[in-house]
Amino acid sequence: MSSSAVRDRGSARVRPGRRAALISATVGTVAAGTVLALATAASAGTTLATSAAEKGRYFGTAVAANKLSDSTYVGILNREFNMVTPENEMKWDATEPSQGQFNYTSADRIVSHAQANGMRVRGHALAWHSQQPGWAQNLSGSALRSAMVNHVTQVATHYQGKIHSWDVVNEAFADGGNGARRDSNLQRTGNDWIEVAFRAARTADPGAKLCYNDYNTDGQNAKSNAVYAMVSDFKARGVPIDCVGFQSHFNSASPVPGDYQANLQRFANLGLDVQITELDIEGSGTAQATSYATVVKACLAVSRCTGISVWGIRDTDSWRASGTPLLFDGNGNKKAAYTATLDALNGGTTPPTTVPPTTTPPTTPPPGAGCTASLSLQTWTGGFVATVRVTAGSSGTNGWAATVTLPAGTAVTNAWNAQNSGTTGTVRFTNVGYNGRLTAGQSTEFGFQGAGTPPSGTPSCTAS
Ligand code: G3I
Repeated sequence: MSSSAVRDRGSARVRPGRRAALISATVGTVAAGTVLALATAASAGTTLATSAAEKGRYFGTAVAANKLSDSTYVGILNREFNMVTPENEMKWDATEPSQGQFNYTSADRIVSHAQANGMRVRGHALAWHSQQPGWAQNLSGSALRSAMVNHVTQVATHYQGKIHSWDVVNEAFADGGNGARRDSNLQRTGNDWIEVAFRAARTADPGAKLCYNDYNTDGQNAKSNAVYAMVSDFKARGVPIDCVGFQSHFNSASPVPGDYQANLQRFANLGLDVQITELDIEGSGTAQATSYATVVKACLAVSRCTGISVWGIRDTDSWRASGTPLLFDGNGNKKAAYTATLDALNGGTTPPTTVPPTTTPPTTPPPGAGCTASLSLQTWTGGFVATVRVTAGSSGTNGWAATVTLPAGTAVTNAWNAQNSGTTGTVRFTNVGYNGRLTAGQSTEFGFQGAGTPPSGTPSCTAS
């Protein structure tokens, strides 16, 4: 990267490092609904892994095999993290230095360390234009396509059953404003190279979650829109894809986007998991800490955001060491960014994956029967996510309908926790099975995404 990202293996097996083992093992063996109860009732975790586990998420880091002999590094790794991503050791140049001759020595070291310490592994990355061995760089056409498929098959088979999620394809879209695919030797083998890689990975390791991973896709922009379109197409055609990774490399020139959460949410709404895969934020002090907290809160607010990985442990371990972008300083001390991250993990209240949205506890009933609705918006150029809060009047509801009037040229692209009739003009949203019945004063929320200009005004609400 030049500029500046089963099928539920493991979501029920969150296992942090040694100090955290007891709490996490308990969380990991109970049903999702109980996890919610623990999440809201449990005392705050004291490590990134335990706090994330209490929210049904993992917290991971990139790991370099040659640092596993550094006791400070390993001490922090084992204490704070329950997911590891080999930083370079699973890439094509490392695993297949000569065509057909595979070397897993360094990657196996990391996987063994993870397994011995109750951590899981994000595989990174099977097919990528960068860090290819010289022999692959010199191939093209059908010879390169075959070599790529063989590489994906061999590596995913070697690690079959040991990988939580694979970055099957990494960074396949171009920067800039046109949303095009990145030109590369792989792209020149044909536009279908990405789906071919995903199908090969699924065949080789059916239990691993298969992710598309990229950078500068963290907010809504031409590049993320192009990824969104590809993923939508894959879902529609049954190409096996389970998750999208958002690398989230931030600095002053590329800060956390204002629509970060909304962007994660719109991908999640396609029916797959989202993961923050390579988080680092250049800076220091309060500003850096605040940005980390923003990222964590965004993930906790998106029920299908299943985990966060930072791209290294200490600032000195970072690929951008001069930007001091990580959670621990060069001596392994916790930074303000660490504390903010932990506090955000402990403060979030969003339920973990698969728990249906719930209603809020009764408050003082508003006067009158029926129901009221209010609207809040997250917007970006050309689109928005709307959250509508429905509150029952003094008689409660058996069902409800909220009506939103959209400006001309605006359309609903998808909705959740409600059923919409129509997509333009005056759109009526009715409750779904689990959120129609509200006691007096009780509230529930639904949402929808739109393309165009956001609505204004207060939605009308009728109760039945
Ligand atoms: O190991 C050799 C060493 O023997 C040699 O002396 C030295 C000389 O330059 O190079 C060392 O290899 C370096 C390797 O990191 C290990 O430190 C490579 O030159 C260097 O290019 C490589 O950089 C990696 C970079 O990907 C390459 O694209 C970074 O560590 C790694 O953090 C970074 O990770 C990527 C993700 O895979 C994808 N997303 C972006 C992210 C940051 O670029």
